[in-house]
Amino acid sequence: MDGAAKMTQGDAAEKSTARNGRATGSMKAERGGIVVLDFGGQYTQLIARRVREQRVFSAILPCTTSVEEIRKLEPAGIILSGGPSSVYDKDAPVCDPAVLAQGIPVLGICYGMQWIAKNLGGKVEPAERREYGPAQFHKEQAESEILGNLPASMKTWASHGDNVLALPEGFHLTGKTANAIAACEDRARRIFAVQFHPEVNHTERGTEILRNFLFRVCKAQPKWSGKAFIEESVEAIKATVGSHWAICGLSGGVDSTVAAVLVHRAMGQRLTNIFVNTGLLRKNEFEHTLEMYRERLGLHVIGVDASEHFLSKLAGVSDPEQKRKIIGREFINVFAAEAEKLQKGEAHGDIKFLVQGTLYPDVIESVSVKGPSATIKTHHNVGGLPEKMPFALVEPLRDLFKDEVRQIGRDLGLPEEILVKHPFPGPGLAVRLLGLITKNDLDTLREADAIVVEEIRRAGLYEKVWQAFAVLLPVRSVGVMGDGRTYGLTVAVRVVQSDDAMTADWVRLPGEVLERMSTRIVNEVPGVTRVVYDVSSKPPGTIEWE
Ligand code: XMP
Repeated sequence: MDGAAKMTQGDAAEKSTARNGRATGSMKAERGGIVVLDFGGQYTQLIARRVREQRVFSAILPCTTSVEEIRKLEPAGIILSGGPSSVYDKDAPVCDPAVLAQGIPVLGICYGMQWIAKNLGGKVEPAERREYGPAQFHKEQAESEILGNLPASMKTWASHGDNVLALPEGFHLTGKTANAIAACEDRARRIFAVQFHPEVNHTERGTEILRNFLFRVCKAQPKWSGKAFIEESVEAIKATVGSHWAICGLSGGVDSTVAAVLVHRAMGQRLTNIFVNTGLLRKNEFEHTLEMYRERLGLHVIGVDASEHFLSKLAGVSDPEQKRKIIGREFINVFAAEAEKLQKGEAHGDIKFLVQGTLYPDVIESVSVKGPSATIKTHHNVGGLPEKMPFALVEPLRDLFKDEVRQIGRDLGLPEEILVKHPFPGPGLAVRLLGLITKNDLDTLREADAIVVEEIRRAGLYEKVWQAFAVLLPVRSVGVMGDGRTYGLTVAVRVVQSDDAMTADWVRLPGEVLERMSTRIVNEVPGVTRVVYDVSSKPPGTIEWE
């Protein structure tokens, strides 16, 4: 979502040889964290985030990861995630049973609990009554390290079709719901399990259950912080790049900016950034962002105005996928040409690294879930890493979630405006101008879009919504302005709320805000005579129109 500058996070993550000169878990603040073994659950990432919210590092690994690999991270504890399978399915995902015998505390959640029970000789069967959604949890008398300080009864969130019917030897029952064994533990072996999802907000005191596991059971240290991350990253990058040069493609979004600033701290002006004006950016965005990069962040940036070039390549093209392909390809071409110029000139052949703002969810999607996890999100990457750019990758954010990147950005002193900026698609306005692309229509769309954003800001909503933008429809409708009949274009206003862009809901904007947008667009943007508001959610709609 950070646009073109990300290119192919997926491929890149796999091709990467010099990620940033280190593997996950090799930093001091990362050791002593939690390994989350992924059985393909929809909440696996959420578990990892909840752990990090407690300032304990977490890494998601496929459940098939070997014990040696797990041990390399020196984890204080292991969490086994939920998953969509039944432990009795033919292809049911499994871990190496040795995971339970390392003396490292383990917490099994949902499928994780069922796998533990089955593996250690308990009994798991399809439930007579499945539990999906709220389930009232009752603690049993047994002492429990992870439930001890919690109330006798709590609302939890469950999602399972199998039940544990008999516990393995050595386990004590610590809680039940009306229909199922809901928690158990073997204190001697340091194995704990819950049938519900403590990571989900609907589970009362879920965070405390996780905290009990982290701090009481695993004795983890809350040492994962933005400051530690920055210091250690800068050192790691310095060690990796030595005295060589690096280049970075900036998109104007938060990920590539944070990545560039971090690398800039490590290598100063030997990092050259390239910011391409595709002509498909928002109103004044190129000039404004370029100035911010240079004046406020002190980055060395080559600004390339390629808008005419992109327009000519897009002439006559109306198919959205075709547009994406062309823009991706041309972006790479422009970027590669600039890199080559630099390589031959100032850098004297010494550019060895390419910086990318790849984030953890991209890495998990492209690597970890090659295990069993169901990939729900499709990649929106633009183009591919060109073979003709033989650079090693530096991806300083590849262990971070989006909200952590914002926090790191804040710790690095980035202006708030960039940290709260709405996501913008790599192909930019090309996918918000339906059908053929002309310079004139792009200008019209830019004006309308600027009004939408201004009014959202004026209403104090900019930071509360996920995205707010205008779409220009190739639909003319009859109207009347003054005494004359008009036959003008239509602007659709799209404002959505979302957590991760995988699902989204349209925002119930106050009538006055809609009214101001509509009046202003029709009055101030020549050629537009009708404004409509998009009330589709995702799914079945998507956020963008193309
Ligand atoms: P959709 O339209 O699929 O969008 O609901 C989900 C999120 O992704 C952004 N988006 C893109 N980002 N290249 C990108 O880098 C693309 O081709 C692309 N298409 C959509 C969109 O703005 C939303 O945040």
